[in-house]
Amino acid sequence: MTDTTSSQPAKAWSGRFTEPVSDLVKRYTASVFFDQRMARQDIRGSLAHAKMLARQGIIGAQDLADIERGMAQILDEIERGEFGWNLDDEDVHLNIEKRLTALVGDAGKRLHTGRSRNDQVATDIRLWLRDAIDQILTLIGDFQKNLLDVAEANAATPMPGFTHLQVAQPVTFGHHLMAYFEMSRRDAERFADCRKRVNRLPLGSAALAGTSYPIDREFVAQELGFDEVCYNSLDAVSDRDFAIEFCAASSLLMTHLSRFSEELILWMSPRVGFIDLADRFCTGSSIMPQKKNPDVPELVRGKTGRVNGSLISLLTLMKGQPLAYNKDNQEDKEPLFDTADTVIDTLRIYADMITGIRVKADAMRDALKQGYATATDLADYLVKKGLPFRDAHEAVALAVRAADVKGCDLPQFSLDELRAAMAHVPGAPERLQDDVFGVLTVEGSLASRNHIGGTAPEQVRAAVARARAALQ
Ligand code: ARG
Repeated sequence: MTDTTSSQPAKAWSGRFTEPVSDLVKRYTASVFFDQRMARQDIRGSLAHAKMLARQGIIGAQDLADIERGMAQILDEIERGEFGWNLDDEDVHLNIEKRLTALVGDAGKRLHTGRSRNDQVATDIRLWLRDAIDQILTLIGDFQKNLLDVAEANAATPMPGFTHLQVAQPVTFGHHLMAYFEMSRRDAERFADCRKRVNRLPLGSAALAGTSYPIDREFVAQELGFDEVCYNSLDAVSDRDFAIEFCAASSLLMTHLSRFSEELILWMSPRVGFIDLADRFCTGSSIMPQKKNPDVPELVRGKTGRVNGSLISLLTLMKGQPLAYNKDNQEDKEPLFDTADTVIDTLRIYADMITGIRVKADAMRDALKQGYATATDLADYLVKKGLPFRDAHEAVALAVRAADVKGCDLPQFSLDELRAAMAHVPGAPERLQDDVFGVLTVEGSLASRNHIGGTAPEQVRAAVARARAALQ
């Protein structure tokens, strides 16, 4: 970046000014440091605009040819890292336009006919964001495919399901993972839905009121792959709701991955020991040689904060702005770029990390033995034998208390011991038969929840198959 601090006012808009801005103001108001990321989109948009101007006879065919030749060279310079970004030229738009004019002369000066940086920047952001969303949708798909593989392999691996972080009922690890699949499915829907509103063309709105040239906005929309044009020029140059929606979808995606991360961290703690994560996602401690820390999931949890922060930044940026464009909107880019970068990196890492989960099935099963996980199954058994549910609940609570005293799990009682434990609930003991031990086992409990959305291994396999078919 060259910071040419000439005292001559030489900016594209400086004709009416009698003194130059200070270096501090120049730096404060410039965006070229960060909006040069949209250079490719800016060139694409300019080429479509120029093509339309020529078709409409607003510029000549030779002008268009010159603009196309100049832009091809500029793109090449940018790709090679040889383009001289200049702080004096404020932003990506003016930098490119100035270089174009240096390369092709008057045609470069005609490019901005019927256009303003206000509709130009709104178009560039939308093009940029559309690409980012497409990339994110592909990455969510990769994450989902890997998640489905692990879920299928563990469709029948029992683990405790928790409520209040207390052992509640048996579930399978595959079923647990499929909960995150469902979350990611909704995340993908949100990004795809947001894309519809991103994919509308602001160009043609000019500064705020439209333009007096005979432009053809539909043609530009088609050239750039937009579904339709924005229908109000004031709205088109000023609102950034599409970017806010993107950040909201990103916040929810990160929130889901943050919850997943919290579980991975918890499961990996030696106190729980349900899984191990591949070494490549962990780091050691510089002082404690025994440590293997789940840094990657911790960072995902942490980075959710910055993504949520970006959402609040953009909402706050927008809330006080009168129509139409205000320079406030220049502040939309950094939070937006940072959000897309964070989501893209996180999804990439996560897809790989999932394949590196080593499941410790024995530890999961041991944990199930410690929480009377099949107590609900025992109550359901009594209900199916005719006992009202509230009485069954009471009877099983007594059995749990007795198991607590004896220091055993429910399936370890004999039939007589179980009956004795429930003696105070009329109707309960005589309803217990030998077949009760069928429902007290973890496998029996799992298999009995055999309906769509339930944890029976058969249902988990069906859910994986359904999900795979939908991903095709
Ligand atoms: N760099 C500006 C932005 O990011 C471009 C639009 C400038 N428009 C203006 N009227 N100053 O929003």
